[in-house]
Amino acid sequence: MEFPATRLRRLRSTPAMRSLVRETHLHPGALVYPLFLCEGEGVRREIGSMPGVFNLSIDEALKEVEACAGLGLGGLLLFGVPAAKDEAGSGAYAADGIVQRGLRAIKATKASESLVTIADVCLCEYTSHGHCGVVARDGEHYEVENDSSVALLAQTAVSLAEAGADVVAPSDMMDGRVAAIRAALDAAGKPNTPILSYASKFASAFYGPFREAADSAPQFGDRRTYQMDGANLREAMREIEQDIAEGADMLLMKPAMPYLDVIREARQRFDLPMGAYQVSGEYSMLHAAFQRGWLEHERAMLESLLSIRRAGADFIVTYFAKDAAKALG
Ligand code: PBG
Repeated sequence: MEFPATRLRRLRSTPAMRSLVRETHLHPGALVYPLFLCEGEGVRREIGSMPGVFNLSIDEALKEVEACAGLGLGGLLLFGVPAAKDEAGSGAYAADGIVQRGLRAIKATKASESLVTIADVCLCEYTSHGHCGVVARDGEHYEVENDSSVALLAQTAVSLAEAGADVVAPSDMMDGRVAAIRAALDAAGKPNTPILSYASKFASAFYGPFREAADSAPQFGDRRTYQMDGANLREAMREIEQDIAEGADMLLMKPAMPYLDVIREARQRFDLPMGAYQVSGEYSMLHAAFQRGWLEHERAMLESLLSIRRAGADFIVTYFAKDAAKALG
């Protein structure tokens, strides 16, 4: 046999050759950009730990909607930073809540027609204690109650759908919320609103910067009794199975880069459309390195997104969405 008949470098020789044989692609239509809506007018408050990400009043958010549509992004994911919080997180399901008002304003624009407007469904930005559900206290001991939380989450989902959300995305990790949300949407005359379930969401240190952005850090304890243990891949598959059985239309895997193996396994087992959330801490750590000149901004950003697509995600929620679309353009 001659010296290698196969020379894999033959197909790497030029940009055109590499483009022809590329297995995984990034495109703006598969990127979703998160927006943090706050009260006021003309407000554009940068998040300290997330350069280029802002709390935006609704008028400022509309400018972002225009920009996102112009870049050909696939969608928006909306979070609320309310002026006031209470024990029951009532701002999450108020008809005039910050996201509900934002949705009405966004959906009234021409630009929003090309974007899928997804509303995050959770209580943590709206509760005074910062937990994702209802907290029952007994002296030192506290419990995040499941079933009473699910009732409020279902009410939140209906309220967001009625305000115009194209998709509702529960991120709380209570048991049974997908079934309850489906039943509530159907009963409210919203049988065609899809549920994007954060099916396997891990209790992660990488949500730290988000909690600054959304002012949603728990005031006591942590989220480990409801979000998943990062060590468990099989349990993640059980969470997904359960959500599919309850009526989830799409899955969202989260975080992304520290859990690429979980995304891969889910892709192999399940046929639902699946997204992955490149969360705040993933964005912040890359930016910290960009600021020091330790990593090349554009290349590292695109490589991080490509890794998530290669693992099997159809779409990616990312704070890099606009930058990536520009780089790809
Ligand atoms: C709400 C929610 C969180 C994120 C998305 N939805 C925070 C959390 O669970 O503490 C995190 C997103 C990010 O870090 O970018 N429950």
